[in-house]
Amino acid sequence: MNPATRIIIATTLALGSSAVFAQSPGMQHGTGGGMMRGPAGMLTKQDAASATDMGLVMDLVHNNTKIKRTVTNLPDGIKTVTESDDPKVAQAIKAHVASMSGRLQDGREFNIFSTTLPVIFDNADKIKSVIEMTDKGAVVIQTTADAKVAAALQAHASEVTELVQEGPTAFHRGLNARVAMGPEGPRGAMQRTARAAKPAIAASQSPHTHDHSFSGAEQWAKIFDDPQRDTWQKPHEVIQALKLKADAVVADIGSGTGYFSVRLAHMVPKGKVYGLDAEPDMVKYLADRAKRAGLNNVKAVLVKPGDAALPEKADLVILVDVYHHIDNRETYFRQLQRSLKPGGRLAVIDFTMDSPEGPPKAARIAPEQVKAELQAAGYALKEAPAFLPNQYFLIFQPQAR
Ligand code: HEM
Repeated sequence: MNPATRIIIATTLALGSSAVFAQSPGMQHGTGGGMMRGPAGMLTKQDAASATDMGLVMDLVHNNTKIKRTVTNLPDGIKTVTESDDPKVAQAIKAHVASMSGRLQDGREFNIFSTTLPVIFDNADKIKSVIEMTDKGAVVIQTTADAKVAAALQAHASEVTELVQEGPTAFHRGLNARVAMGPEGPRGAMQRTARAAKPAIAASQSPHTHDHSFSGAEQWAKIFDDPQRDTWQKPHEVIQALKLKADAVVADIGSGTGYFSVRLAHMVPKGKVYGLDAEPDMVKYLADRAKRAGLNNVKAVLVKPGDAALPEKADLVILVDVYHHIDNRETYFRQLQRSLKPGGRLAVIDFTMDSPEGPPKAARIAPEQVKAELQAAGYALKEAPAFLPNQYFLIFQPQAR
């Protein structure tokens, strides 16, 4: 690093002095608007600079192998060195760090799946950042007097390291976790985890010990992988209850990361599972996931929102936590009937009004309404398995004409 070319930006956020950096858009992602429908669509908040910032992040993620990063955990924070020999990547690192530093100062949160960033943004006034731009990237020192915030800085630094080490794999894992967090996103996930963690903390610690809920990367990894979902989603029981034949054709509408599609695929080894989603990134993610798992009977398909046509007639159409996202439902489900085989079924699983998980109550749809709407669309309720704690599970068939 050549000291003569260093640009030193010292931002003591508590004092509100501003970061000065001639920000360049750097390398722009070719996908532009497409990205907005993908990860950018999952941002906690969007503003005028979101698309540029997301383009930069995607460039960094896709150039991860060209980035070198070291992190030193200080007693009260972090020191990170993030650099690249490739001038374009180095420029992207600098632009990202400068932009994020500005966001932290102005409180313009930028986040998709991190559960540490909300802590950092909420406590920005307690963080002192010293940012040094080098020829090849940036050296960042962030310190704080608050132990909880220091732990969040360290946990976030290891999230960034994970992105550097694993690139798109870590990013997709993050997207997967974001989907599992539901519409409330990382903040909602944190609150849920804090609630769930309380009894364990109470049992394992004396009242004199401090709060251990921010104990580093491993802790956050547990949240990202969210194994909690299985406990209430009971995917195995759901699939058993559907009593599928080995050669059944299934359409999983709004398949997302493929939580159900890949599980269903094991149940229909001679059949097919179409995972349909309107988000190109999700479709790509599911296609990759199915390929990695050697599941040739999973087909990931991009659909237009509101288009009920399926690639082929199905024995079962399933919508898990998706019904409430569909507009003009009567028309949609009437059209969907054309894509059901004779005797074909439609399964709807969605959050009950009093479930502790799920979207805000105003966005939920009561099971009585689902039944009434689907009756109007020409379906009859056949079964209503009642073993899911947070969701209703309704199985319909077209009414005999
Ligand atoms: C390979 C990908 C990425 C690289 C190389 C990278 C690099 C960095 C670096 C060097 C910092 C300064 C703090 C530190 O060194 O720990 C930083 C901060 C930040 N990054 Fe990234 N980042 C990446 C991905 C992301 C993603 C995916 C997001 C969110 C969607 C994001 C949002 C932020 C935010 C909000 C900050 C400010 C937090 C703070 O200053 O403590 N970054 N990033």
